[in-house]
Amino acid sequence: MTSSNDIRATFLDYFARNGHAVVESSPLVPRNDPTLLFTNSGMVQFKNVFTGQEKRPYLRATTAQKCLRAGGKHNDLDNVGYTARHHTFFEMLGNFSFGDYFKEQAIAYAWELVTKDFALPKDRLLVTVFAEDDDAAGYWKKVAGLPDSRIIRIPTSDNFWRMGDTGPCGPCSEIFYDHGEGIPGGPPGSPDADGDRFIEIWNLVFMQYEEGPPGVRVPLPRPSIDTGMGLERIAAILQGKHDNYDTDVLRALILASAEATGQEPDGPWRASHRVIADHLRAGTFLIADGVLPSNEGRGYVLRRILRRAMRHAHMLGSREPLLHRLVPVLVRQMGGAYPEIARAEPLVTETLKLEETRFRSLLERGLHLLAEETARLPAGGILPGEVAFRLYDTYGFPLDLTQDALRAEGRQVDVAGFEAAMAEQRRRARAAWAGSGEAATEGLWFDLRERFGATEFLGYTTETAEAEILALVVDGKVADHAAVGQEVTVLLNQTPFYGESGGQVGDTGLISAGEACRIVVRDTQRKLGDLIVHHGTVAHGEATVGLAVQAEVDHARRSAIRAHHSATHLLHEALRRRLGSHVTQKGSLNAPDRLRFDISHPSPLSGEDIAWVEGEVNARIRENAEVVTRLMTPEQAVAAGAMALFGEKYGEEVRVVGMGHDPTATEKGGIYSLELCGGTHVRRTGDIGLFKIVSEGAVAAGVRRVEALTGEAALRAVEATERRLEEAAAALRVPPAEVPARVAALLEERRRLERELADLRRQLATGGGGGQVEEVGGLRLAARNLGEVPARDLKGLAEAMLKGGTADIAALVSTAEGKVSIVVALGEAARGRADAVALVRAAAAAAGGKGGGGRPDMAQAGGPDAARAEDALAALREALATTPATA
Ligand code: ALA
Repeated sequence: MTSSNDIRATFLDYFARNGHAVVESSPLVPRNDPTLLFTNSGMVQFKNVFTGQEKRPYLRATTAQKCLRAGGKHNDLDNVGYTARHHTFFEMLGNFSFGDYFKEQAIAYAWELVTKDFALPKDRLLVTVFAEDDDAAGYWKKVAGLPDSRIIRIPTSDNFWRMGDTGPCGPCSEIFYDHGEGIPGGPPGSPDADGDRFIEIWNLVFMQYEEGPPGVRVPLPRPSIDTGMGLERIAAILQGKHDNYDTDVLRALILASAEATGQEPDGPWRASHRVIADHLRAGTFLIADGVLPSNEGRGYVLRRILRRAMRHAHMLGSREPLLHRLVPVLVRQMGGAYPEIARAEPLVTETLKLEETRFRSLLERGLHLLAEETARLPAGGILPGEVAFRLYDTYGFPLDLTQDALRAEGRQVDVAGFEAAMAEQRRRARAAWAGSGEAATEGLWFDLRERFGATEFLGYTTETAEAEILALVVDGKVADHAAVGQEVTVLLNQTPFYGESGGQVGDTGLISAGEACRIVVRDTQRKLGDLIVHHGTVAHGEATVGLAVQAEVDHARRSAIRAHHSATHLLHEALRRRLGSHVTQKGSLNAPDRLRFDISHPSPLSGEDIAWVEGEVNARIRENAEVVTRLMTPEQAVAAGAMALFGEKYGEEVRVVGMGHDPTATEKGGIYSLELCGGTHVRRTGDIGLFKIVSEGAVAAGVRRVEALTGEAALRAVEATERRLEEAAAALRVPPAEVPARVAALLEERRRLERELADLRRQLATGGGGGQVEEVGGLRLAARNLGEVPARDLKGLAEAMLKGGTADIAALVSTAEGKVSIVVALGEAARGRADAVALVRAAAAAAGGKGGGGRPDMAQAGGPDAARAEDALAALREALATTPATA
């Protein structure tokens, strides 16, 4: 059998032989294209080459491109699992001409490859052309010798290809394969064209226009070629199958799913196995390209895909997370052609497991609710949008999951109702949020980018530079000058200022032209990827377009930022060494006063982990190795062992930053840390000075955040800790080195005292402790001198004694601090027969005290002379004995 890997290689080899550069697949997340969610075809990475905006060192290219059609213009998600040919993720084989060859040659290449290299029988092939495209029809006749009956003219948009709402487009011609009479369906253009007999295998697009805003279509500088052949479709034919899901790669995944769940691959759960196989591919490739499940944008599409698959896994009876167990099978099948999925395998596995574990409990409860709600509906009744919204909002059910779940019952969801409920929730959220108005000004940057091109960044090598003001933006509008006191955004032709990106904050500093103008820059940002814009205030004179200026970065601040950024690289490497290679960067901040680094890691770092990592980074700092930056192609960088952020936007050339030595790291040429990075760095690791981790915690499920300081900031943090230690030492009256021992001793002492106090309380309460109960004036009196027991404890002790029930009156004396303190408390039997206030006063008087007060059943007083404590108790007895026994 011809494997998918062989077919891919045959295709690329054919075009390489015919003068095409074999170009790597671009990431699923398109670079610098705000209009497109995912790469949906081979031409996406060449979009700007077609329009002439970008130049490449070749005019012909061929690729095997990973594509995703879920969300956006091309969305196939809903059908996946139930048809023979819908996928979210698929591979598109293509050849491209950028103003080189056009229709005739493209048709000739396609025909030769299909009929010779792939050896498809000619009589099984037929083609379509756009109805008005006589040229294409003529070439098919001439080159392929096809009769008119097999060149079908299609007048609809089916034969006019668009990347999206905007971008390059043109008429197209498709090659169809006839799977034979055994399968129902008619040729393209016929009423039953939707059948499965005639399958499109290759689309040749004759790129001629660029679609702009609605209604605006301009010709491309030079007509070009873009083609796309679905690898899964050609594999089906070459492997003698009809169904894409029976081809080698997908079949392997289906069998793995069947084995893991114990459910027949082709039995009643066929669709579920297919959904799982397809969605696993999409999920794995997306995660490897840096997308993580989230509730917005691309992350949400990923979550929708994964959760849809998870419901099917649940239906297959899988009670444990399933998807991650299939990853090794996929890596075996496709990791050769796409090494990024092999590199990302640990992260993919972790992410899938986590997402499935978290969704499981919600899934069960949500399905339960869904079953309850549908039970109330008549057969075929539509599920109210508000229920679908509740499932979404409370149980994390993406709308397509709910729709998919209802599919078997033939039910639909009231989508309008769902959207209304969603809109209402958004309205409430928006009301609570004051927008920044950013979106409105975004358009003008497109115009400026068009006019002036990218800003040249000089900041790797210099902190000051001459430049020219190209444009000014005041109050969200392009202006030709800005007066003193005005807030202004400045675009220069070149700048040493770093525009915030890759976690490194933007620079601050000064843009000036002698006495004529001074602009204080308080932030620098990037627009559309490569425009660097300076936000500031005109502090002096006037800023005008065309002015020649001096741009100067705040040196101290930039130095501190550099130190933090370089330390981040060392930290990244140290974390991977300590925790494992699944650790990848999930976000970072490199500011002048701190760094923050988020990593994919499932559990908290222990104290030992932190100490180890901190020690490791400081050892690399002391090594004072040179920081070496090299420019390479992305392929060279990866080959050199550089840690690349999957799915990052890398151009023809990337910067690779290396620091530190490690002879054992042979895969990285003996360099400790090697990363693709566009930021600015220290010259030698010793410039970082000192590295100190100050916190570690969770930011999201599976993502940990480490915060750390370097240089001055780290030193200040250490000093502050030291100061606090000194304060503690002073309070404890010991040298700082003895603080821990002293604190331990004090804690021990305190535990002992607490034990003693508890014992004492118990003894007193049970009438023990040396004193007796005596009968005075017909009442049982417990009179005690408790010596050093603190006066504030007397009340509680007296109450405890009365509770014991052995006395009617408790009279307690403390001689702590050289004074006499007395408390008298009356139990039930004594109330009304004695007066606590009178008794305590009599006692206090005998100890030289005056006064005393409280309630008739609880009173306290004191006297200055501790030596007369016994006199006080004697006086109290006397007073009690002579109290008139009132009833
Ligand atoms: N871009 C064309 C397609 O996706 C080839 O069909």
